[in-house]
Amino acid sequence: MNETVKNAVELIKKKTAMNPRIAVTLGSGLGGLADEIEAEAVIRYEDIPGFPSSTVSGHAGEFVIGHLKGVPVIAMKGRFHYYEGYSMQKVVLPTRVISALGVKTLIVSNAAGGVNTAYSPGDLMVIKDHINQMGDHPLIGPNDEEVGPRFPDMSAAYDEDLMEKAHEEATAMGLGLQHGVYAATTGPTYETPAEVRMFRALGADAVGMSTVPEVITANHAGVQVLGISCISNAAAGILDQPLSHEEVIETTERVKTNFTELITRVILR
Ligand code: 6GU
Repeated sequence: MNETVKNAVELIKKKTAMNPRIAVTLGSGLGGLADEIEAEAVIRYEDIPGFPSSTVSGHAGEFVIGHLKGVPVIAMKGRFHYYEGYSMQKVVLPTRVISALGVKTLIVSNAAGGVNTAYSPGDLMVIKDHINQMGDHPLIGPNDEEVGPRFPDMSAAYDEDLMEKAHEEATAMGLGLQHGVYAATTGPTYETPAEVRMFRALGADAVGMSTVPEVITANHAGVQVLGISCISNAAAGILDQPLSHEEVIETTERVKTNFTELITRVILR
């Protein structure tokens, strides 16, 4: 195991004896789920040796470890984005740590632009597959054979059974769910209209700036993944209006209750 991961695991184990099997990454505006957790330990990333300090983003985030309606979970509130200047290795550090702690299931969330013209802001999309358009990859470099194989299979990067459970729970809530392909760019710009047409032609339904590195890393380690995108806005060129981060935040605010309930239900399952 990588030294940084080992040190982080040691520090976390000193703070809690809990051994959650489920972790959830909370994307932009979707951190509210962490408030529902009866926390045993809250560990800020910046307090973990080897983790980036909060200087780049202003809020580096934290692990919240505790019980969600009785179920042991680790929430990752906030993430390191590639566009902030972090290396891929830093971006996937929290994922490596939860996997080394024994997590078997990772639920990842994000805010994404809708590329599929049938999508509306506020839709939740189960990620059925992804396209890595970041021009980088978290597994480049020496392979840690203890963690996983040199050439990991990605033919079922998002777990069928978890997608099914998400659909069943959404149906029980009376909530419609989209089911689509997520393309990841580096950001920090949103795409041009031509780029959005390209992504549509490539088979993407949504586009964002995160998630793919974490999902690759989870798959490498044999951690099963459920991905949920909150479609926060139409991608460029679909509507005759500019994109703004304010719209992204407004939409995630609006859907966070449904999002939190859906994730909670899936975790209880
Ligand atoms: Cl339109 N593009 C990307 N890359 N990320 C986003 C987005 C769009 N909307 C929210 N996040």
